[in-house]
Amino acid sequence: MLISTPEDTPAYQRLLGDGSRLGLKFSYKVQETPRGIADAFILGETFIGDDHVCLILGDNVFYGQDLTRVLNRAKKIETGAIVFGYPVKDAHSFGVVEFDNTNKVISIEEKPKNPKSNFAVPGLYFYDNQVVEIAKKVKPSARGEIEITAVNNAYLEKNELNIILLGRGMAWLDTGTPGGMLKAAQYVETIQERQGFYVSCIEEIAWRRGFISREQLRAIGEGLKMTDYGQYILSLVEESV
Ligand code: G1P
Repeated sequence: MLISTPEDTPAYQRLLGDGSRLGLKFSYKVQETPRGIADAFILGETFIGDDHVCLILGDNVFYGQDLTRVLNRAKKIETGAIVFGYPVKDAHSFGVVEFDNTNKVISIEEKPKNPKSNFAVPGLYFYDNQVVEIAKKVKPSARGEIEITAVNNAYLEKNELNIILLGRGMAWLDTGTPGGMLKAAQYVETIQERQGFYVSCIEEIAWRRGFISREQLRAIGEGLKMTDYGQYILSLVEESV
């Protein structure tokens, strides 16, 4: 389920549709006002149902050889929450997690003036079903938002907050500012130009994961064949003969 503003949600819907083109199922929910990240679990209550849930912030970019393994590990969560820790130079701009030498979380703070560690918490979270009720109880912060860090603190108090550290070899980039967007674009361009693989081509991923057939992939490529992107997709179809 994709959540965005009243203005932007229709544009995402136009771009991505119901997901059936990719063998997936997408739904959409409008957040009328920017009430905070934790509002996702209130807006998403019916969508989540009795399941566990993963939340990713739309302006966060993750890339690295280990990523699939890390995500597969996190999705096996049975109780509690999993957040990630990623070393950065400017931790005060993020949620910051402090942990001991057994990787037990000691504290998690939102944009602290004096960070207790240099490990930021990226916008990628895994929770058990308690998250819906926890989110409903969170009180707005000084910036008027129900903070995801408050949700994580509720799990910490129950002793159910786990951390997975991401380190060298994993890229976590932000596209929430023009500068961040430019840096992420340059990173992606550099990798793509060097290797000749597209980074996160969703049609390619859907095909490699078996969500769509080679013929479906070809049809998508044909529809986009005037672009480099379409040519890339068609080259995958040819290579797989
Ligand atoms: C949000 C979270 C913060 C997290 C960051 C990751 O910050 O509140 O804990 O580290 O996303 O991008 P915001 O983008 O709302 O300032």
